[in-house]
Amino acid sequence: MSSGHNAPIPAAGLGTRFLPATKALPEELLPVLDRPVLQWGVEEAVAAGLDTMVVVLSRGKELLAAHFDSAPELERTLESRGKLVGLEAVRRSQRLARFAYVYQPEPLGLGHAVLQARPVVGDRAFACLLPDDLSWAERPILAQLVDAHREVGTPVLALMRVPRERISRYGSVAVAESRGRLHRVTAMVEKPAPEDAPSELAINALEHTRPGAGGEIQLTDGIAAVLESGPVWGLEFEGELLDVGTPEGWLQALLRTAPSHPTFGPALREALERGLHQGALP
Ligand code: UTP
Repeated sequence: MSSGHNAPIPAAGLGTRFLPATKALPEELLPVLDRPVLQWGVEEAVAAGLDTMVVVLSRGKELLAAHFDSAPELERTLESRGKLVGLEAVRRSQRLARFAYVYQPEPLGLGHAVLQARPVVGDRAFACLLPDDLSWAERPILAQLVDAHREVGTPVLALMRVPRERISRYGSVAVAESRGRLHRVTAMVEKPAPEDAPSELAINALEHTRPGAGGEIQLTDGIAAVLESGPVWGLEFEGELLDVGTPEGWLQALLRTAPSHPTFGPALREALERGLHQGALP
């Protein structure tokens, strides 16, 4: 059993919303700028003080582990050719954190995937992150959640305020008291009609549950159980979660992350200007 600060990362899904790109390539390895979306998540977890990633895999997704493993031949080749920038990037990805891998034998839902991490995580506090959500915020969202957990000492849900007409894509939480952006959550209504939603505060995990997901164990089932067992707070985090699990979301993530990047920002502007010039863009 690990004794560090654990981050279970469910990555055993099929990625059907991004086919055919995800037929052979795990969706968590789709690049956003120069690194796989999963690496963005791991970097965020490390920045929030988590040191052990418990990645939940399914058969055929071992490439995920290879990305964080050492690659001595590649390193030797890069070194002998003087490709030091590439060498540093390769080394960095394998020094980021400690990794443990567990398997989910069948894609039986997000909650079931997180449960597979239990033999490693045990009963200690953990922070769960979804690798196809890229967090885009001044202070990383996971760090905001860890701070909130330190403050209230209970499980903390990530909440976002959404317009009422879009609340039925998510779950809406009932709130008993609020302290700034912290809200004590007493109940959750899954995918409510806008007029039935107890608040405009949404929980993102619900966007990942399928309608009529019979036979699956959804994360929301686990959250419902936690709500019954003691106080739970939610943090209305600052920033955005970008869903990279669809081509549209992935495009949006590129347009959000590239402009402020020292290399890719200018490259994007140049490509757009050239596109405009050649009439390829309206
Ligand atoms: P998603 O529902 O976004 O991913 O789950 P998915 O099931 O892979 O994608 P689609 O809907 O078919 O396109 C969020 C995260 O939970 C993992 C996925 O790998 C993804 O990273 N997941 C989902 C599991 O690990 N196991 C599951 O049974 C379901």
